[in-house]
Amino acid sequence: MSSTLVQGAYIVAGLLFILALAGLSRHESARRGNRFGIAGMAVALVVTVLAATAGLRESSGGLSVETGGSGWLGLLLILVAMAIGAVIGLDRARKVEMTGMPELIAMLHSFVGLAAVLVGWNSSYEATAYPTIHDVEVFVGVFIGAVTFTGSIVAFLKLSARIPSRPLTLPFRNQLNLGALGLFLVLTVVYTLLPESAVFGRHALLGLVTLLALALGWHLVASIGGGDMPVVVSMLNSYSGWAAAAAGFLLGNDLLIITGALVGSSGAYLSYIMCRAMNRSFISVIAGGFGVEGGTAAADDTDYGEHREITAEGAAALLTDAHSVVITPGYGMATAQAQHAVADLTKRLRAQGVDVRFGIHPVAGRLPGHMNVLLAEAKVPYDIVLEMDEINDDLAETDVVLVIGANDTVNPAAAEDPTSPIAGMPVLRVWEAKDVIVFKRSMATGYAGVQNPLFFRENTQMLFGDAKERVEDILKAL
Ligand code: TAP
Repeated sequence: MSSTLVQGAYIVAGLLFILALAGLSRHESARRGNRFGIAGMAVALVVTVLAATAGLRESSGGLSVETGGSGWLGLLLILVAMAIGAVIGLDRARKVEMTGMPELIAMLHSFVGLAAVLVGWNSSYEATAYPTIHDVEVFVGVFIGAVTFTGSIVAFLKLSARIPSRPLTLPFRNQLNLGALGLFLVLTVVYTLLPESAVFGRHALLGLVTLLALALGWHLVASIGGGDMPVVVSMLNSYSGWAAAAAGFLLGNDLLIITGALVGSSGAYLSYIMCRAMNRSFISVIAGGFGVEGGTAAADDTDYGEHREITAEGAAALLTDAHSVVITPGYGMATAQAQHAVADLTKRLRAQGVDVRFGIHPVAGRLPGHMNVLLAEAKVPYDIVLEMDEINDDLAETDVVLVIGANDTVNPAAAEDPTSPIAGMPVLRVWEAKDVIVFKRSMATGYAGVQNPLFFRENTQMLFGDAKERVEDILKAL
C-alpha cells in the first residue's frame, strides 16, 4: 500500500478526531461529534490493518518502511481478533447501566495501559538506528503504560465498590511517589548506557521499571479518597492517551501519536476543569487523602437537630404555587433512572407557566457530564439546563428547589464549615431558595461520606423513597 495513501488517510482520521472533540464539547453537537469519531476510527483501523498486511507501515519520521507485511493469514488473524473484541465490546456496552459507565471506562483505560506495556516490551527486542532514543521511548512507554494499568484497575475496584473508596495513607506516601519517579529516571539513564549485548541486564532493568511503575500506579490511585475520584477518572483518561502516544512512537505510527496526544491533552484539561470545580489543586489531589468512606453512615456525629418530611401531595401543592423551580439532580437520579419522570414533571410544570430550570454541578453523578447525558436522553431542552455558575446567583430568588438524588454537590458544609472534609468545594447554594425538597431514600451520606446539614435546615423538607417513584407520585397528585 502506498505510503502517501496511508499518510493521507491518517491526516483525514486525525482531522475527524479533532472534529469529534470539538463536537463533544457542546450538547447540541455531541451526536455529530460521536459520528466524526466513529468515522475517524473506521478510517484509522482499515488503513492500519491493510498497511500492516500489505507490508508497509509508517516510521515516526513520516518515512515509509517495508516490513514484509503479515500477509493474508495475518489479516485473517487480525479480523478474528477484532470480531471477538467487537462482540465482547458490544455486549458490555449494551448491558452497562449509565451508573456503571465510570468503572467500565476505568477498565478500558487499563487495557490501553496494558497494551502500551506489551508494545514497549515487544519493541525492546527490536534493533533500531537510534538506540538511545529508542531505549528512552521503550522505558517511558512501559512506565506510563504500567502506571495507567494498575491505577485504572484500582479506580475500577473503587468505583464499583469492590474495595473501599477510603484513601490509603501510608507513612511518607508523597516521598514514596517522588522516590519512585527518581528511581525511574536513574534506571532510564542506566538502561540507555548498557550496550545492546547486555541482554540479561537490559531485560532485568526493564522488568524492574515495570514492577516499579505497576506499584506506583496502584499506590497513586489507592491513596486518593472517594471525593477526588472524578479527577482520578479524567487523570487516568489523560494517562491512557499518553500511553497510546508512547506506543505510537514505538510502533512508528503517526496516527497513534496524534490520537494519543489528543486524548492525553483533553484528559489533562478535563482534570484541570474538575480540580477547579472542586476548588482543589492538581498536586493536592495527587497527594491524596481527601474524602472518606463513601455512601454509608454519617461520618460525623454533630447534632444538626430534627429533619422535616413532606409527602408527594405536599410537594405537588408547593410546586403548584411556585413561579420558579430549579431542579438539581445528582447520582440518585441516575440510580433511580428518574430522568424520564423528571422530564415529564418539567413539561407539566412549564405547561402551567412555571419557570423550570436545571442546575448541574460539574461533578454531579459519577462521571463528567453524567447528568447532562441523562437529561438529554429524556429530551429535556438544552436551554433550561444550566451549569452551577450560571444558576447559583439565581437560587436566592427561586421558590422551590427539587434536589433529586444529589447530596455532596448541595452540601452547605462545603461553603460554611472550614473543618468539613469537603470544605472549599464549590456547591449549588440550594439552601438560599424559599423551599427545598430533597428526594432520597434515607438520611445516609453521599459519595464523600460527609453528613449534610442541608437536610436539617428550616426551609428543607425530605421526600423519602425512590426518586423515580416519588416524582411519579407528584405527577399523579398534580
Ligand atoms: P452523592 O453525593 O453521591 O449522593 C447521591 C445521593 O443519592 C445519596 O445520598 C443517596 O441517598 C441518593 N440516592 C441513591 N439512590 C437513590 C434512589 N434510587 N432514589 C433517590 N435517591 C437515591 O451525589 P452527587 O450530589 O451527585 O455528588 C457526586 C459525588 O460523587 C461527589 O462526591 C463527587 O465528587 C463524586 N464523584 C463524582 C464523579 C464525577 S466525574 N461526576 C466521579 C466519581 C465520584 P440514599 O442512599 O439515602 O437514597
